[in-house]
Amino acid sequence: MDVNRGLSGNSNGFDRAWPDDATRIPDWIYTDQDVYKREIEKIFLGRHWNYVGLECEVPEPGSYMRSYVGPFPVVVTRDMDGALHVFENRCAHRGVEFCREYRGKADSFICPYHNWTYDLKGDLTAIPFRRGVKGKGGAPKDFEMSEYGLRRFRVSTRGGVIFATACEDLESIEDYLGPEICAEFDATFDGTEFTLLGVHRNILPSNWKLYQENLKDPYHATLLHTYLTTFGLFVSSNESNIPTDKYGRHGGLLSRRPEGRPDVSEEEKSNMQAFKQTMELNDPRVLKFFPEADSKWSGSVLTIFPTLTALRQTNILNTRLLVPRGPNEFMMLWTVFGRSDDDEEMTRHRLRQNNIFGPAGFLGIEDNEALKFLQDGIRKAMPREGLAVLGEDDEATDTLITERAIRGMYRYYRDVMGF
Ligand code: FES
Ligand code: FE2
Repeated sequence: MDVNRGLSGNSNGFDRAWPDDATRIPDWIYTDQDVYKREIEKIFLGRHWNYVGLECEVPEPGSYMRSYVGPFPVVVTRDMDGALHVFENRCAHRGVEFCREYRGKADSFICPYHNWTYDLKGDLTAIPFRRGVKGKGGAPKDFEMSEYGLRRFRVSTRGGVIFATACEDLESIEDYLGPEICAEFDATFDGTEFTLLGVHRNILPSNWKLYQENLKDPYHATLLHTYLTTFGLFVSSNESNIPTDKYGRHGGLLSRRPEGRPDVSEEEKSNMQAFKQTMELNDPRVLKFFPEADSKWSGSVLTIFPTLTALRQTNILNTRLLVPRGPNEFMMLWTVFGRSDDDEEMTRHRLRQNNIFGPAGFLGIEDNEALKFLQDGIRKAMPREGLAVLGEDDEATDTLITERAIRGMYRYYRDVMGF
């Protein structure tokens, strides 16, 4: 193996040609501004369904919330007839990001700068001094309000999850997910009504794709996370499955937790520094599991390309929306929810258990650090290629010691991006 591979190349030390092998991932896809611009065109505004929120976040006519399609701020509304709309949060006049509250109820949006007013569908309904004063000034005579509404996205929902796309003729959500992923998606989003329990927001100094990779990477989960391994939530010996859709763009990490502490072999222990045999929790209630989904998996993480991850771990239900902020940074919006028929005790349990995840969670914090260190290495060091060599592409899908799903995503990505 030539360890200097990637050090030669053109005069700026930067070679755009993707190595002819999905096991090699070039550094520049995580750091380059031109790559990021192309992602906006080909991915976020391309032929993809972008997750924007849950129906329980806009529960009633007149409800709205702020969200994002890729990096672009949008507003999600439910109009007075109950229909959902997604439109840009950018005034058609001078460009103000007019919706400032994260969520609420409204019957219109009035831009604070010059008070142009939009309805819940994003149509422009009023502009002050349209005819000027005393016959002077004002909008041009031929100004048609219908031409200056907010730009809208197409909207679709499945199981209470809202998606938006700029593409006019995209396949249904069901076809977009594909049968393997759709089945697991439906096990969590099974048609019950959800209630919003809370939202975390945090900003990570890393490329957005690294977070999708992280959740397609069962290998790290068995090594980095003391909490997961020690308390048996995700251990290499658990029964598990790593499905992907036919394109490789979506994936799942599915795992079934044993009763009690995991039965870990000496071989596994010798490979897992994070496993702490004698560690105990002061409050073991956080690990309690009340089976609730029609699925054999007690842990299910779905990565839906491009920017949704949906988690059902024990009794934690949450989604994460990845909001790119340039190549080197993204924001994460975690939406934590429960079922509307939960009693108070179950709600307390879900909230308590949610301490496992989130920006400062018992294990979420480790991923945040790892991804910062990863971006540091990629951004600051001499360019090289990352490796995703573990496991076989045609192996059975029940081993966790594999990087098959990461390779799958990048085969799809290369294709869409034209690299
Ligand atoms: Fe919104 Fe002028 S920028 S009304
Ligand atoms: Fe992790």
